[in-house]
Amino acid sequence: MKTQSYLASSGFFAGNRPDDLIAQFGSPLYVYSEAIFRQRCRDMQQLVDYEHFTANYSIKANSNLHLLAIAREEGMYADAMSPGEILFLEKAGFKPEQIFFVPNNVSAEELQFAIDHKVLTSLDSLAQLDLYGQLNPGGRVAIRINPGVGAGHHEKVVTGGKKTKFGISMDQVAQVHEILNRHHLHLVGVNQHIGSLFMEPHPYLEAARHFLSLAEQFPELELIDFGGGFGIPYHKLEGQPRLDLETLRHELTKLIREFVARYGRPVHFKSEPGRYVVAESGVLLGTVHAVKQNDATTFVGTDLGFNVLARPMVYDSWHDIEVYHGGQLVETEQTSPVTVVGNICESGDILAKHRDLPGITEGDILCILDAGAYGYSMSSSYNNRPRPAEILISETGVARLIRRRETIEDLFRLFEF
Ligand SMILES: Cc1ncc(COP(=O)(O)O)c(C=O)c1O
Repeated sequence: MKTQSYLASSGFFAGNRPDDLIAQFGSPLYVYSEAIFRQRCRDMQQLVDYEHFTANYSIKANSNLHLLAIAREEGMYADAMSPGEILFLEKAGFKPEQIFFVPNNVSAEELQFAIDHKVLTSLDSLAQLDLYGQLNPGGRVAIRINPGVGAGHHEKVVTGGKKTKFGISMDQVAQVHEILNRHHLHLVGVNQHIGSLFMEPHPYLEAARHFLSLAEQFPELELIDFGGGFGIPYHKLEGQPRLDLETLRHELTKLIREFVARYGRPVHFKSEPGRYVVAESGVLLGTVHAVKQNDATTFVGTDLGFNVLARPMVYDSWHDIEVYHGGQLVETEQTSPVTVVGNICESGDILAKHRDLPGITEGDILCILDAGAYGYSMSSSYNNRPRPAEILISETGVARLIRRRETIEDLFRLFEF
């Protein structure tokens, strides 16, 4: 099969060449497209045709301050999983009422932080609800419900269902009411998140329908949050179809309107997309340093270790790869299976196993697609390798540094001597 260039056809680089970007900003390099990021924010904002709906960007997927500022400009609200994420959102200009804190297993200090910052918090267990009530009696709270069902591309991203650590199960509703009453708390919101990366509308719609039937048991809700998990086609070079947002929009809107009519009071609806907003807005560029044959396997050795992109190692995730030679995309029908590895001292440091790619030589540039979500945000300095730089290509094609490369000096800075 002839190699197709998704990046060329999507206009991702807006006239820039991967080799020029690496020459200017170094390797490895995260590159984001402002045009695609804005479009994905808009897709999610239009998920439902209902006046009181907001998409909360789940910033765990990517919390680069410049991207956060664009998401805010696009009218998105945001979810935070930690005080650090709240501080990032504040720094990017989000107001407290635009932030929803959805932590699990946090300390009293962390809950107090959210209270002091006037950020609505969703509690994930009876113990945390009780602790919150002690800290903020009479306050407004939300709870995360575990609806008893989950879904996801890997067991590590299924977050609903009896086997996961998340949420309060519905057989604990009596205790929830007892704690609310004891601390005079007002339960104003419920949220759920059943898992990550669904490619068909059906599981999300079923979960939303089920969730609304549970939400009816709480009479004074102001907000209902269906969670994130919207998938993107990681196999796009093989023509994998996109998630059908039209069907989702149509069906979710119907569900919401019917619910509001039954519930008898206006409710603000939310979703919590992370991956959908930012995965396709980012690619990772890296350099091939050594190609070698070990027994039957051809290894392509790069600077793209799991310290830079952890998903393949953590979840066995697939990322499409485009190969550039002398700055040009290698387009050929001649491919052979290679195993793409990084420079980390672990045998699990594998980016792609037995992948059919065109002939690759030292100095070529690999472009890893769909790396914007859970890419930089899960990167580390393992093996004392500083984290890569991030650049943003503007809608007019200007590439600019938005986070500089970490340095060894940055790593030394934390030590006490
Ligand atoms: C509570 C919660 N909300 C939202 C998300 C975002 O999920 P996704 O990036 O799949 O949309 C996650 C991810 O695990 C999550 O745990």
